[in-house]
Amino acid sequence: MKDHLIIFDTTLRDGEQSPGASMTREEKIRIARQLEKLKVDIIEAGFPAASNGDFESVKAVASVIKDSTVCGLARALEKDIERAGEAIRPAASGRIHTFIATSPIHMKMKLRMEPEQVIEQAVQAVRWASRYTDNIEFSPEDAGRSDIDFLCRILEKVIDEGARTINIPDTVGYTLPDMFGQLIETLRQRLPNSDKAVFSVHCHNDLGLAVANSLSAVMHGARQVECTINGLGERAGNAALEEIVMAVKTRQDVFPCTTRIDSTQIVPASRLVSNVTGFAVQPNKAIVGANAFAHESGIHQDGVLKNRETYEIMSAEEVGWTANRMVLGKHSGRNAFRTRLKELGIDLDSEEALNTAFARFKDLADKKHEIFDEDLQALMTEEEQAHEQEQYRLVWLKVTCEMGETPEATVILQDGNEEKTARAHGSGPVDAAFKAMATITHTHAELQLYSVNAITQGTDSQGEVTVRLHEAGRIVNGQGADTDIVIASAKAYIHALNRLHSKVERAHPQV
Ligand code: KIV
Ligand code: ZN
Repeated sequence: MKDHLIIFDTTLRDGEQSPGASMTREEKIRIARQLEKLKVDIIEAGFPAASNGDFESVKAVASVIKDSTVCGLARALEKDIERAGEAIRPAASGRIHTFIATSPIHMKMKLRMEPEQVIEQAVQAVRWASRYTDNIEFSPEDAGRSDIDFLCRILEKVIDEGARTINIPDTVGYTLPDMFGQLIETLRQRLPNSDKAVFSVHCHNDLGLAVANSLSAVMHGARQVECTINGLGERAGNAALEEIVMAVKTRQDVFPCTTRIDSTQIVPASRLVSNVTGFAVQPNKAIVGANAFAHESGIHQDGVLKNRETYEIMSAEEVGWTANRMVLGKHSGRNAFRTRLKELGIDLDSEEALNTAFARFKDLADKKHEIFDEDLQALMTEEEQAHEQEQYRLVWLKVTCEMGETPEATVILQDGNEEKTARAHGSGPVDAAFKAMATITHTHAELQLYSVNAITQGTDSQGEVTVRLHEAGRIVNGQGADTDIVIASAKAYIHALNRLHSKVERAHPQV
């Protein structure tokens, strides 16, 4: 019997720390349901002390998820731990993850605490957490740059206090695979009570080594890996769940452990996270990129036709490339629509919600012959976004383009109770539309990212647009989808403006 490798997904927490990726409660529930289907062991649903919104999101995820443990992050502060404890209360199985920085630079410059005070605070944090649960995880933040003797001292104490998972974060992605594996091995050997805790790792990808470092740690005894779908996360991101899981599965000849992940749910999870956050997946991304199983060269194609294993170490089916691609169309009824949404983890809670979503579906089916799961997911993302606080709404848009002429856009927006019109020229139709909308809204937000992706194949595909805006230190992403990419772009821009306007304040756990 091999050991069980615990997969701890932090897409909804560390993933959410990516620029502009913050998610609403409904979006988190949707992703959590897919993570449960994927069979991740633990879902870190958020940082409840960040805002009331995040507290409610973690609580809602804790209420609906039955088959995965739901975890809330908390700094080593009583008020954070109290919030996390309250948020996970409804969970069938809940965990509190508390952390404090232990590297010399973090203790001195960020915390302004002496090492002895940090130890005291960490022990206290575990004591506070034990009021709510005995499933407690402790992380010495920036462990990758911490002193090993100090790590041994603090970790021995928190295990004695009741921490049952010791997570070693490479917070700034600084370590190298051999070094990191060795760190895990040394800690397991030197701590006299190491047998009372599961060792976990949490690697960032600043040097592109997050997955390699995590796997090296697994080889040296780590039995929990923290990771995110598509490698989403702070800065360069976290270790990608799909890469960790498929490496362990594909190389069972060397790994001493297995996961319980249903790998056929990987691609649907990847698509959903990309759709909700607006972070597109690069085509050559391992496992979930559009080209991951595409063979371009004739020699490769010939080899694969003769025997798939000549050039493929995994199959596309195994990771879910062909799963869940049922097609709906113009003639599909409400029942087929509702059933498919349910299979995708989307439960519409009222007849009214079903009616509105179904009307949108019919509109789309009028424009587009076949409606794929990706279209349904984009449609539901829009539907959920429609419930967010809205200052502006796109009423009408006209663009004129002609070779040799400057494109012109005319836009009508609903601004509160008023309809406002503006016309502008631009270097292209999208530029012209954005300029017209900026005139109406008087925004000075800086456009940091504009990306367009075809949701499915074919020229009748919907374009999925992400717009990232930055204003006064806040970064937000807006998304829009439509078969007309100028309209999709306008929707994404308005969505981002509305998010900037809503001014929801969130604390960052690590600042
Ligand atoms: O990267 C990090 O150190 C973290 C901790 C909160 C675990 O995200
Ligand atoms: Zn992190």
